[in-house]
Amino acid sequence: MRIAVFASGNGSNFQAIAEAIASKQVDATLCFLFCDNPKASVIERAKKMGIPFTVFSPKNYENRAAYESELLKQLELNAVDLIVLAGYMRIIGPTLLTAYANRILNIHPSLLPYYPGKSSIQDAFEANEKETGVTVHVVDAGVDTGPIIAQEKVAILPEDTIDSLEARIHQVEHRLFPQVIQKVIENKTIKKSE
Ligand code: GRF
Repeated sequence: MRIAVFASGNGSNFQAIAEAIASKQVDATLCFLFCDNPKASVIERAKKMGIPFTVFSPKNYENRAAYESELLKQLELNAVDLIVLAGYMRIIGPTLLTAYANRILNIHPSLLPYYPGKSSIQDAFEANEKETGVTVHVVDAGVDTGPIIAQEKVAILPEDTIDSLEARIHQVEHRLFPQVIQKVIENKTIKKSE
C-alpha cells in the first residue's frame, strides 16, 4: 500500500509512522510527507529520515479547491492509495474527499465523539475528566466526525499536569496509529473509491 502523510507541525506521529514502515512493522511505502506550513518541524524530521516531502501553503492558491487540486496531482503522480493525517490542521474539502473517499485516516487525542477540535487534551483536563484517550477514524466532511476504527483510553491521574497527560497521550498515539494503519492494510477495510 502506498501512503502519504499530511502534517502541519511537530511531526512526532509522522516520525512514528515512518519508523514503523522502515522497520517493516507497517507494510507500506511512504511516498511523501505533505506539509502546509513551511516552518513546521516535521519537515526537519523528514529530511533527517530521507523521506521525500512536498511543502506548499494554501495562502498561495485562490481557494481550497485550487489548493487541493494541486495536492491531488501530487497524490496521483505518486499513485498514493491511502492518506494519513497526523496533526494536519486543516479540514479536508470535497476535492480530496471525493477522490479519496474512505481512504483518509486521522488521529485525534480524545475519545471521540467527546472533545473534538483543536484543544481536546486541555479541554478534557480542564473538565476534570478521569479519562480521555486517542481515536483513529476515517475522515469525512465534518471535524473529527468520521467512522471510528480504533480507540484507546488514557487515564487522567490526580497528579497529572497538561504536559504529563499530553506526553502519555502521545506515547499511546505513536504505538496505536502504526498498528491501526497496518490493520487497515491487512484487512483492506478501506476500499478504493474508483
Ligand atoms: C496529535 O496529538 C494528533 O492526535 C493531533 O495533532 C497532534 C499532532 O502531534 N491530530 P505531532 O505533530 O504528530 O507531534
